[in-house]
Amino acid sequence: MAEVSLAGVSKIFEGGVRAVDRVDLSVPDRSFTVLVGPSGCGKSTLLRMIAGLEDISEGEMRIGGTRVNETPPRDRDIAMVFQNYALYPHMTVFDNMAFSLKMRRESSSEIAARVHEAAEMLGLEKLLDRRPKALSGGQRQRVAVGRAIVRQPKVFLFDEPLSNLDAKMRVQTRAELVRLHRRLNATMIYVTHDQAEAMTMGDQIVVLRDGRVQQIAPPLSVYDSPANAFVAGFIGSPPMNLLPCRLVARGDSFRLACTSEGGVAFETDLWDSARRAVGSFEDGRPVLLGIRPEDVRVSIPADGSPFVSVEASVDLVEQLGAEQFVTFRLGSSPMVARLQPDVAVRPDDRITFHLCLSKAVFFDQTTEEAIGPR
Ligand SMILES: Nc1ncnc2c1ncn2[C@@H]1O[C@H](COP(=O)(O)OP(=O)(O)OP(=O)(O)O)[C@@H](O)[C@H]1O
Ligand SMILES: [Mg+2]
Repeated sequence: MAEVSLAGVSKIFEGGVRAVDRVDLSVPDRSFTVLVGPSGCGKSTLLRMIAGLEDISEGEMRIGGTRVNETPPRDRDIAMVFQNYALYPHMTVFDNMAFSLKMRRESSSEIAARVHEAAEMLGLEKLLDRRPKALSGGQRQRVAVGRAIVRQPKVFLFDEPLSNLDAKMRVQTRAELVRLHRRLNATMIYVTHDQAEAMTMGDQIVVLRDGRVQQIAPPLSVYDSPANAFVAGFIGSPPMNLLPCRLVARGDSFRLACTSEGGVAFETDLWDSARRAVGSFEDGRPVLLGIRPEDVRVSIPADGSPFVSVEASVDLVEQLGAEQFVTFRLGSSPMVARLQPDVAVRPDDRITFHLCLSKAVFFDQTTEEAIGPR
């Protein structure tokens, strides 16, 4: 069992920087958990604490149920793969992969068997005699992963291992890592600032900001029900549209009103999920209405789901071939629609956009926390 659990774990660096702030986290045995967040949010620090490379300032960490706060890295049965690969330049691929096993004085037949098995998994068999400088970035990255695999650790830690690869290699290698996870059936914790990697690789995503956990959930839950406006803006590309609105009393029912600079942009009845989400509230409560770009359309939803229509001038059209992103403004709020590539639309066109509301979410305008049950 290699469950990793953190209770109230903090890292306070000299000078008082709280790089990691009271993190509670449970990484289930054999899960693929992704830590994601912007630069400086504490991802590497958290990972290094799990590896034992940084002391834990507060809280408790357990691996496989055992407290490891005081356990040195070599006794944690963990392998870490770094962004810069950290291969030994003067050693062959084989020796790089064999190094930790030699240090452990494994038999040479055992070492050869494990290295060849890992090399086969990673497509490195033909490269075993080369030195790192004779390898491409992607191949070096695979050697670094191979070096971790041969150790057969309980837990794999990856710190942005794909960030030195070009876009195509990244996509290919992230699929390989997911396959590897299935094959090895090991616990993996993977750090990235790339929301697409988090969405596609993780069983669970941990979103961090300023050292604090914002949300821990499976990718689609994070996408559909972000815990706060920060998560809504960070996960998903283009990010979720966040439109300032008010919940207003009209007779004995409530409506959602969006006022833009030019007056009322729209006012609409609350739809079922919205009524459940907001429950009871003060008249005039300011909220942020969150709508994904794919829920901003130019045709009315055919399934009868709720929507509200707005007319706006197009600011920007980004044609990507498979889809296009169309930017416009509602009052002072920028909005993005993800449209089919064949919709004819040009900058300055006046267009009626339909905001599909069935998947819309609300955030409190002050706290930016999601409103309602999630
Ligand atoms: N040794 C250190 N002493 C003091 N502050 C540190 C130290 N190491 C990191 N920090 C600070 O801790 C915070 C978190 O750093 P960390 O490297 O964990 O971020 P990160 O999320 O991995 O960022 P990136 O995506 O850029 O790699 C940052 O504000 C950083 O400046
Ligand atoms: Mg980092």
